[in-house]
Amino acid sequence: MSQHKATMIIDKDFIIGAIDNRIYGSFIEHLGRAVYGGIYEPGHPEADEKGFRQDVLSLIQQLQVPIVRYPGGNFVSGYDWKDGIGPKELRKSRLELAWKTIEPNQFGLNDFVEWAQKAQTDVMWAINLGTHGVDEARNIVEYSNHASGTYWSDLRRSHGYEQPHQIKTWCLGNEMDGPWQIGHKTATEYGRVAAESAKVMKWVDPTIELVACGSSSRTMPTFPEWEATVLDHTYDHVEYLSMHTYYGNKKNDTPTFLARSLEMDDFIKTIIATSDYIKAKKRSKKTMYLSFDEWNVWYHSNDADKKRDPWQIAPPQLEDIYTMEDALVVGCMLISLLKHADRVKMACLAQLVNVIAPIMTETGGKAWMQTIFFPYMHASVYGRGNALVPLIHSPKYDTSEITDVPYLEAVAVHNEEAQEVTVFAVNRDLEHPLPLELDLRSFGANSRLIEHIVLENPDLKARNTADDSTAVAPHNRGNAVANGSGLTAQLTKASWNVIRISVQAK
Ligand code: AHR
Repeated sequence: MSQHKATMIIDKDFIIGAIDNRIYGSFIEHLGRAVYGGIYEPGHPEADEKGFRQDVLSLIQQLQVPIVRYPGGNFVSGYDWKDGIGPKELRKSRLELAWKTIEPNQFGLNDFVEWAQKAQTDVMWAINLGTHGVDEARNIVEYSNHASGTYWSDLRRSHGYEQPHQIKTWCLGNEMDGPWQIGHKTATEYGRVAAESAKVMKWVDPTIELVACGSSSRTMPTFPEWEATVLDHTYDHVEYLSMHTYYGNKKNDTPTFLARSLEMDDFIKTIIATSDYIKAKKRSKKTMYLSFDEWNVWYHSNDADKKRDPWQIAPPQLEDIYTMEDALVVGCMLISLLKHADRVKMACLAQLVNVIAPIMTETGGKAWMQTIFFPYMHASVYGRGNALVPLIHSPKYDTSEITDVPYLEAVAVHNEEAQEVTVFAVNRDLEHPLPLELDLRSFGANSRLIEHIVLENPDLKARNTADDSTAVAPHNRGNAVANGSGLTAQLTKASWNVIRISVQAK
């Protein structure tokens, strides 16, 4: 048996790509208590004059979320954006068919734009291509982004927003390949309406960027033919193709659960290959980038959600309470995104508050951090710069579903400005620590450890709750030791590690 130790070599010149900060984006849907009781709760002791919860805003600011996708998700495919604008007392309540609730429309486009400013984040707006089409697509861009002098832009001004919102990033619908989607379409039907919508949206505002819907998961029967057909129609009109994936541990098979990020890697590789095939077919010089705009762990709440009565306003839905092991999977998924920094330019942890989210609240009560908050925050705060190729030798394991799983999942980020290298690493071994030898050869001989942050817990099912909100929390007592041109550490079993190294020349 080979020695149970991992080595990792990184070189500052072996760059995967410059990390686009928008890979640390998130997502808020009109679903469950994400909006009502989550980010917006007039009357809550922490609410500001607009009804935005400041306790939630301050947690979001710790995450440094650069962009938030809104308003859905499945919700958007039946949503009339006009229901959410204008005086609140005149707004209509609607049956919301995607999640079987009542949508009171007390929060909408302008409210979200204002909230996003307070959250110091950009807006990624998803348009409805389920029940809406080309006409509404151009109207909403005109309402949001055109300065003045037209019906829609002057309507926005009459609503109190003199300046255009300048929303730059727009998703052309949501998961249109899924039979559960309102207005589900074939790839050709979707490709045509997406291309025509994109065309007129850019005629209204040529500065915007667009995301076409890829498959809602790699397990869809239409994957990856869906992508090829959709890109055939939309390649010249859009900048990004979307990807979505969620993992769960229903069989309580943690070694397999921790290995799911290898499937995420494969998914990304297949989408890159499919995009590049269409690029070649079209003799195009343009490269299609990827927007991984829904990803997370999602399964804890599935059974509870099946039992809920329909037609309530903001009932608890998709309220996964995350465990230590979920945080490890989220860490592995973040590493997977970083390993594809050359092509994945946007990504959204789905979602941000209460609904499969790093932040939980009680309606009328507290807000706290779930376990997955921490790897997401660490990556967002320390994972800015260039992603470096990780040359890794690691012992491996097999599960009944996935083979050749390296115990070490890792990537390094070089922030040239800060003269810092950060290694993000998960030890997938549930039983043993994993000795790591890191070779920093190209960075000179003066590497110095700044800190070694560790998220670990002897109980992989440990979770944070309103009353015990720090059961799972990181510490910075990791044991990494820098030795000039390298570093050694013992990565404790089942741990998420953030090793921050100063690479300042003396
Ligand atoms: O994020 C929850 C749901 O997952 C979204 O509404 C949908 O797009 C996906 O299936």
